[in-house]
Amino acid sequence: MQNRSLGVLHLRWRLWLLAVSASLAVLAADPSKEPYTIRISCGSFDDVRTAPTNTLWYRDFGYTGGRFANATRPSFIIPPLKTLRHFPLSDGPENCYYINNVPNGHYQVRLFFALVADPNLDSEPIFDVSVEGTLFSSLLLGWSSEDEKTFAEALVFVQDSSLSICFHSTGHGDPSILSIEVLQIDDNAYKFGPSWGKGTVLRTAKRLTCGSGKPAFDEDLNGIHWGGDRFWLGVKTLSSSSDDQPLSTENVIAETLLAPNFYPQSIYQSAIVGTDRQPSLSFEMDVTPNRNYSVWLHFAEIENGITAEQERVFDVLINGDTAFKDIDIIRMAGERFTALVLNKTIVVTGTTLTIVLQPVKGTRAIISAIEVFEIILAEKKTLTQEVGALRTLKGSLGLPLRLGWNGDPCVPQQHPWGGVECQFDDTKGHWVIDGLGLDNQGLRGVIPGDISKLQHLQSINLSGNSIKGNIPVTLGTISGLQVLDLSYNELNGSIPDSLGQLASLLILNLNGNDLSGRVPASLGGRPLHRARFNFTDNAGLCGIPGLHECGPHLSVAAKIGMAFGVLVAILFLVVFAACWWKRRQNIRRAQKLAAAREAPYAKSRTQFTRDMQMAKHHRPHESSRSGNDESTPHLLPS
Ligand SMILES: *[C@@H]1O[C@H](CO)[C@@H](O)[C@H](O)[C@H]1NC(C)=O
Ligand SMILES: *[C@@H]1O[C@H](CO)[C@@H](O)[C@H](O)[C@H]1NC(C)=O
Ligand SMILES: *[C@@H]1O[C@H](CO)[C@@H](O)[C@H](O)[C@H]1NC(C)=O
Ligand SMILES: *[C@@H]1O[C@H](CO)[C@@H](O)[C@H](O)[C@H]1NC(C)=O
Ligand SMILES: *[C@@H]1O[C@H](CO)[C@@H](O)[C@H](O)[C@H]1NC(C)=O
Ligand SMILES: *[C@@H]1O[C@H](CO)[C@@H](O)[C@H](O)[C@H]1NC(C)=O
Repeated sequence: MQNRSLGVLHLRWRLWLLAVSASLAVLAADPSKEPYTIRISCGSFDDVRTAPTNTLWYRDFGYTGGRFANATRPSFIIPPLKTLRHFPLSDGPENCYYINNVPNGHYQVRLFFALVADPNLDSEPIFDVSVEGTLFSSLLLGWSSEDEKTFAEALVFVQDSSLSICFHSTGHGDPSILSIEVLQIDDNAYKFGPSWGKGTVLRTAKRLTCGSGKPAFDEDLNGIHWGGDRFWLGVKTLSSSSDDQPLSTENVIAETLLAPNFYPQSIYQSAIVGTDRQPSLSFEMDVTPNRNYSVWLHFAEIENGITAEQERVFDVLINGDTAFKDIDIIRMAGERFTALVLNKTIVVTGTTLTIVLQPVKGTRAIISAIEVFEIILAEKKTLTQEVGALRTLKGSLGLPLRLGWNGDPCVPQQHPWGGVECQFDDTKGHWVIDGLGLDNQGLRGVIPGDISKLQHLQSINLSGNSIKGNIPVTLGTISGLQVLDLSYNELNGSIPDSLGQLASLLILNLNGNDLSGRVPASLGGRPLHRARFNFTDNAGLCGIPGLHECGPHLSVAAKIGMAFGVLVAILFLVVFAACWWKRRQNIRRAQKLAAAREAPYAKSRTQFTRDMQMAKHHRPHESSRSGNDESTPHLLPS
């Protein structure tokens, strides 16, 4: 049912996307225009609109495999979509969505997860998620019972007009994806410092709106689309153990909805403040150790009675170090009811991130919102030409589905493709493939000539498959190749001379195939040196010690001549046999006649005739038989 409609779907989608991207190609990050937006309802055959914002979700497209299913949404913040796509391990450990024709720029990419509505399936899958080859999220046990863990969000730059989002199995259930959102944001959004940019991906680790109990999306908060559609978890207290308090105002807040981050006004209309008894504020969250985090703190002076500078001054300590000293919101923002945003990059060594607001003058501390991002170094990708060659190989060799081979072959480094060995090329700044180990994988196709585009290969092992056809001549151009093991396949034809150019070759196993013809002289001498070659179990191979002798190399004319010679010899034999038989008949008859008259004479004459025949015809008979034996090897190699 799924396959039937896929072709049509894809074509329609491509046309549609082309139209959309053409109309958006001229877009810059201009707040007066709409940003590029794509939302996919995974597993859905129809476009869907969801309340209350009438958000449009496109029907499912761009996936590499998987199955659709009905969804169970474990949390109310998950968009009200009814289907999902899940990727069983039999479809391979790596599965992706490729979204093409995305204008280059800066994007918020958000994925919501859900559970397959099937009581027989493992209910909560655990898996990894990458965007553009960079691993940015690992689901943890219990994710489905915490609102802010039911999605993964990354801020990422699209540089080649396409976006790949991949899901990596960890062997704990099928990755199950409810929705994908690709929302363009300002080119400079969340610019935290010099290392910000195309070399980093930001993972949203925490986003709180303080003093409001209600979780909300930018969309609900009358944000504008260039801010993305951030999810703000509403909290009334920063820690369950302290007695901090919520505070709110209906006053208009100035300096919101400004480039590059376009924060909605309402996140500044509420806040959490300390108490007279405990004037400082403290917030703590779990983090991954030895990572860098970008912390964004939001303030606005909204408390009645605080009207001038110096009435509220506090320090901000992050993990014990002073991140900001003497924060005086009115002084720094210029006025009351005016937004102030501060950001700081923190190197975290432990497993917690603690933010403490410590009053130094005047009244208790206050905070409106907190955002924490993990700064992740973006992975460098694999050389494009080599990715293309591997894809050709995948098709040509009939790679089984379970091997996957979706996304980038070498990154994320935690999840390289099975059977592919990678090496980072420091000088060029990308990954290359230096080994292919696809032995005993049930491959059935042919080796494509394009395999030679994997110019950095040092080792190829395709032993123990059912690969047919010829050994590609182009293999001879992979100059660094040291190991070539094609043993135990169904390869036929001759060994290409080009393999003789492989100066680094140490191991060449071609045994157990249907290869024929002469082993190239350029290879024949090599085993004498340090290399190990095996050509055995190929009935038709000849020309090196251990295999049978090749005959002299024959031209077509010589072969025709030889065939003609054999034909003449056979003809001669037939004629001779006929003559001999005829003569015998005559002698028998004569014998009978003679016996009737004078028996002893006739007998001795017959004996003499037989001896004569043996002497006369022994030689030609012998030589034609041995001639036949010799011609067998001449004729076989063609
Ligand atoms: C999803 O649920 C609908 C009923 O709501 C049912 O008709 C359909 O077969 C289900 N699909 C799958 C894949 O389970
Ligand atoms: C973040 O802080 C740095 C200074 O640490 C500042 O240069 C930069 O402008 C800030 N970014 C934004 C978007 O405010
Ligand atoms: C964190 O930032 C420091 C520089 O501030 C850098 O040397 C280090 O490599 C970064 N660590 C990670 C894990 O990104
Ligand atoms: C290639 O794989 C086969 C089967 O796993 C193995 O026996 C053989 O040693 C490998 N060849 C080389 C050269 O390592
Ligand atoms: C090799 O085998 C293929 C079938 O697998 C056949 O079409 C082809 O003619 C064979 N080539 C030679 C040289 O025997
Ligand atoms: C070559 O391959 C054959 C099997 O085809 C095997 O029996 C033999 O041991 C191999 N020779 C070497 C030197 O590895």
